[in-house]
Amino acid sequence: MADVSVVVTELENNLDAWLAAIGECKSLEVLDVVRKNLLGRSSAIISTFSQLKSLHADDRRLYGDRVNKIKASLEAAISDTQGALEEMQVQEKLREEAVDVTLPVISDRFGSTHIITKTMGRIRQYYQARGFSVIDGPELETSFFNFNALNTPKHHPARQSHDTFYIDGFDDLLLRTQTSCVQVRAMISDGVPIRMVSMGKTYRRDAIDATHSPMFHQLEGLVVDRSPLSIGHLKRELVKFISFFFGVSDVAVRFRPSFFPFVEPGMEFDCRYSKRDGKVVFSQSGDRWLEIGGAGMVHPNVFKSCGITGEVYGFAYAFGIERIIMLKDSISDIRNLYSTDQRLLRHYGRPA
Ligand code: DAH
Repeated sequence: MADVSVVVTELENNLDAWLAAIGECKSLEVLDVVRKNLLGRSSAIISTFSQLKSLHADDRRLYGDRVNKIKASLEAAISDTQGALEEMQVQEKLREEAVDVTLPVISDRFGSTHIITKTMGRIRQYYQARGFSVIDGPELETSFFNFNALNTPKHHPARQSHDTFYIDGFDDLLLRTQTSCVQVRAMISDGVPIRMVSMGKTYRRDAIDATHSPMFHQLEGLVVDRSPLSIGHLKRELVKFISFFFGVSDVAVRFRPSFFPFVEPGMEFDCRYSKRDGKVVFSQSGDRWLEIGGAGMVHPNVFKSCGITGEVYGFAYAFGIERIIMLKDSISDIRNLYSTDQRLLRHYGRPA
């Protein structure tokens, strides 16, 4: 019994020093260490509680109350100090990130082109220099352009894979799920021959995570001609674009059979790569394959829907623009591309 009485008195005698130690903590990390020392499983206070178990009920209550009081004072002090330190942290962050609206404008802080816009500009230049037209299409589409004319009639199973946003109150309006609808617009308005690309936003009912977003950008390519075009031509086109985009000279592309209703045969294409310092580097000697996009030879039904008859050949392909940007710049989370954080925008953008 005497033991417990001595131990509890000693705890009480230490209380002021402990409270002072808590008050002196200058960071949350230090406070956490102090908390563990004072109230952790092997602390003097907690082990005193287990000593109390062997006492008579009255003594247990008496000493229990005294130890609980010490514990409660320590907890209150820890909580106060924690609150103060957190508040200090917030204030410090606000000070560090303060924006002085009275400062004169520094031009490179004034705004920058977003990396997606910048990339689309680069791609546009590349294709224009090669004699392609760069066509814009509307983001609000009808099911004719987005699906029917692309050999995807109502109830076609491929429609389900494109969880579509329809527009309330309008029978037939939707947010386009793919830029392939611009192929249809080009074929109907320009006729044969066609060498075109289109870039822009597409929409699907996907939950947002590190690699998905309900809105993302695609690059669509289409070449149509009266003289024969083969998968070889398609492959050469892809190799050229990928070499240009990633700044490499010897990229290896392979096709895997896949299904897209508007092409036959339909394919997905992969590039050979290896990882260097965590970065994807495309090369002939890479040891792995990475899926990059979809492609194929234009399906005869698509020509038919667009009113193109006679002997005609075509190939088409598409890339996810965010995907190729993320690969090129080693960005692991697509959300970084849509963030409004000025530091990210400045890092990836360039002065307007
Ligand atoms: N539109 C397809 C999609 O979004 C991608 C695609 C696949 C486009 C094959 C093409 C193609 O032009 O030939 O999933």
